Amino acid sequence: MSEIPTITLRDGLQLPAIGFGTAGMRGAQGVQAIDSAINQGYRLIDTAYNYENEGTVGAAIRRSPVPRADLFISSKLPGRYHEYGKAVTAIQESLYRAGLDYFDLYLIHWPNPERNQYVDAWRALIDAQKFGLIRSIGVSNFVPEYLDRLEKETGVLPAVNQIELHPHHSQPEQRDYDRAHGIVTEAWSPLGGKGPKTQRIQETLVLRDLAEKYHKSAAQIMLRWEHQLGVLPLPLSHNPGRQAQNLDIFDFSLTPDEVQAVTELDGERQVTGYGDPRTHEEL
Ligand code: A2P
Repeated sequence: MSEIPTITLRDGLQLPAIGFGTAGMRGAQGVQAIDSAINQGYRLIDTAYNYENEGTVGAAIRRSPVPRADLFISSKLPGRYHEYGKAVTAIQESLYRAGLDYFDLYLIHWPNPERNQYVDAWRALIDAQKFGLIRSIGVSNFVPEYLDRLEKETGVLPAVNQIELHPHHSQPEQRDYDRAHGIVTEAWSPLGGKGPKTQRIQETLVLRDLAEKYHKSAAQIMLRWEHQLGVLPLPLSHNPGRQAQNLDIFDFSLTPDEVQAVTELDGERQVTGYGDPRTHEEL
């Protein structure tokens, strides 16, 4: 398998160009799945306080022979802890749960604009970075006006914005904004999520044709497309074979027209986003 390239964040941290999503992986089975992912070659592991599996991620890290310094662990602050003091405590609690001294990346999970406290939460992340609890700070599910506000009120832009992104939700405006501001876009649900949605996307003719042409799977075409858009995908799989398959996307290239054809699948709007960040409340 080809080596995983890196992506450099605005603050200089270099991340692997693909990471591993862990939502829903808990307990002994979760440890097994994450341990297997690390064995397959994943080095960036994405978790969240609200996944209730930071402990599972920590157990997999301790089980793995890969040194902590070679891993990149990312977690997220829940909406109920946006208030400054609560946010600092939650970051500390996240670290205790994972059994880690620091996170490589920590994100505000959702903006929850109704609560109007995400700037407060951002100040807590900025300070936690200064205290050495977090190497890089970022956000998730942020739209341009919220990012503008963070910059205006704190002078600090996030290094990363993790958003839902797959061929049926290709997010051209947010990608353009992030790129113009030196923010790396990460993709959650890069394969379209689980269940029938994923199936429907994978059965799209454009993806099936490209898969046949390059002797890859539809999932690999999606991940390669995201990579060529400059996006860092975080695919999730419990299955060692599919975990390995999802890493094996660095030995071929889609043409610009093919990238465009996948991007245009968005126009079909067969699948809408999970939650509009302007209205979605997740605490
Ligand atoms: P499984 O865990 O059984 O592999 P997303 O990353 O977009 O959230 O999608 C995750 C879903 O896609 C999971 O249900 C996962 O199932 C499935 N999946 C992951 N990798 C592949 C793949 N290479 N081919 C087909 N399905 C996949």
